[in-house]
Amino acid sequence: MCGIVGAVAQRDVVDILVEGLRRLEYRGYDSAGVAVVSASGELTRLRRLGKVKELADAVALTPATGGTGIAHTRWATHGEPSERNAHPHVSSNITVVHNGIIENHSPLRDALKAKGYVFTSDTDTEVIAHLVEEELKSAGSLLAAVQKSVKQLHGAYGTVLLDKTDASRVVVARSGSPLVIGLGIGENFIASDQLALLPVTRRFIFLEEGDVAEITRHSVSIFDKDGQAVEREVHESNVSYDAGDKGQYRHFMLKEIYEQPTAINNTLEGRLSNDSVLDETFGNGAAELFKQVKHVQIVACGTSYHSGMVARYWLESLGGISCNVEIASEFRYRKSFVQPNSLLVSISQSGETADTLAALRLAKEAGYVGSLTICNVAGSSLVRESDLAFMTRAGAEIGVASTKAFTTQLVGLAMLTLAIGKYNGLTAAQQQELTEALKSLPGKLEQTLALAPQIEALAEEFADKHHALFLGRGDQYPIAMEGALKLKEISYIHAEAYAAGELKHGPLALIDAQMPIIVVAPNNDLLEKLKSNVEEVRARGGILYVFADADAKFQSDETMRVINLPHVADILAPIVYTLPLQLLSYYVAIIKGTDVDQPRNLAKSVTVE
Ligand code: M6R
Repeated sequence: MCGIVGAVAQRDVVDILVEGLRRLEYRGYDSAGVAVVSASGELTRLRRLGKVKELADAVALTPATGGTGIAHTRWATHGEPSERNAHPHVSSNITVVHNGIIENHSPLRDALKAKGYVFTSDTDTEVIAHLVEEELKSAGSLLAAVQKSVKQLHGAYGTVLLDKTDASRVVVARSGSPLVIGLGIGENFIASDQLALLPVTRRFIFLEEGDVAEITRHSVSIFDKDGQAVEREVHESNVSYDAGDKGQYRHFMLKEIYEQPTAINNTLEGRLSNDSVLDETFGNGAAELFKQVKHVQIVACGTSYHSGMVARYWLESLGGISCNVEIASEFRYRKSFVQPNSLLVSISQSGETADTLAALRLAKEAGYVGSLTICNVAGSSLVRESDLAFMTRAGAEIGVASTKAFTTQLVGLAMLTLAIGKYNGLTAAQQQELTEALKSLPGKLEQTLALAPQIEALAEEFADKHHALFLGRGDQYPIAMEGALKLKEISYIHAEAYAAGELKHGPLALIDAQMPIIVVAPNNDLLEKLKSNVEEVRARGGILYVFADADAKFQSDETMRVINLPHVADILAPIVYTLPLQLLSYYVAIIKGTDVDQPRNLAKSVTVE
């Protein structure tokens, strides 16, 4: 989704702003723009349709000097992707960038037009610029004008404004769309994601819902939603500076696939004893809360929803408690029954997904005994607003298609199963067995990644296909769903996942030689059932690609390609079997020549509904 970078400094900031936008490219966008104002009040604005590179080329041709500036990558919601609709938007002296959606833009636009304001774009954002200009007539300062304006806005915004008649400050406001202030020495910054500012600072203040702040070179003044001056904690970031670089890899997605053994080592580090999960793993008070929990309600979107689906199998079979999992965008709009002693668990890579956040906020009113988030971004909204947070420690995930964030979520959820299970009948021997299995996971993943050349060789056979079917059973069904989502997202091949036992209830009608069928087949209790399903497909001329435990004894032949995976404990299988599906999608996308890291129409962090 959209990205914001801003600066108030003595030095020229245009290069810092454009580099910041480059670091936000992973979020998905269709146009980019920058505006800087010089000390003498001269505003230079440049906007381009397409990549940040186009904007950088324009900046190279048109000198833009100034120590105060704002920049933006736009992911179109209101108005087509075009230079005219790209941010920043200007109203006389006021210049604005905005992430989110102003839901009441239409009546505001009509009211502002009636006052004589002329709109030059189709965006909802432009109303902010004109509204602030209008309020500035009576407000006395940009800060006061923004405070008056935001009271009239409905919807979600992270917005940054500057007034070219006073280049010494920018004013920012946050409601529903994250903003982080970066603290420098004699200069300060603002961005929608700390990654954008890592080249200039490591000290950050995360704004809270309803905050409005005035930022100058030497000061940051923050006011809460009631207009009261507040202090917000300063965080020292440990996100690595080169998190935004691909290193030796052709794509971020490939880098992130290969980072999984290390990422999972980090997820596990310091959280396991010899025979169980350490009490402090889920934070202060977690053990007391988990003792009371009798039901878990999971909410999440996309890939994170799939990890929740796996967790349901684990929590019910090992954790000894019932569990529901629901897509957050559905959960938030229906009246659901809250089971007694129910824990709300949200799962999210970014911690900013609008639907998941809304589901958490609703649940807070609904009588859950507590909330836990499984999240990858420290300081994100879900982390701040949940009672407990488990940080997955995957490191920055840049590829839009989630990989290491997913497998580290699964590790967190396996640990949650242990932590809750010990109060619900999970024996000491079982805890020890699961703990040892988790410790062996990074090694199993290394072994699995070594299969990449075999998987790459399969990818050729998918390149001319338009559809694919993924099959799994039990806790591999969500893995089949995740495999199908990965293939759809980055190769644009239509893919569906089915619980293999469901085949004969409809999808068998689709089987022919043009429909590749991908099967995940660990050696578990359901293997023989799965083998029968595989035979049903074979008998109808389907071509099978089976990722199987070597002991499962599948044989490659003209209708079936078999890739053997290392034998793993049942609890590890969903995590290990994810990797070949990630690699398969990646190699198919390479052959098809799609934009692997920034697939069309998608955004990394979905901060609007
Ligand atoms: O940041 P989140 O985990 O909350 O994001 C949820 C989904 O938008 C995300 O998983 C999406 O489905 C990914 N593109 C999947 O690869």
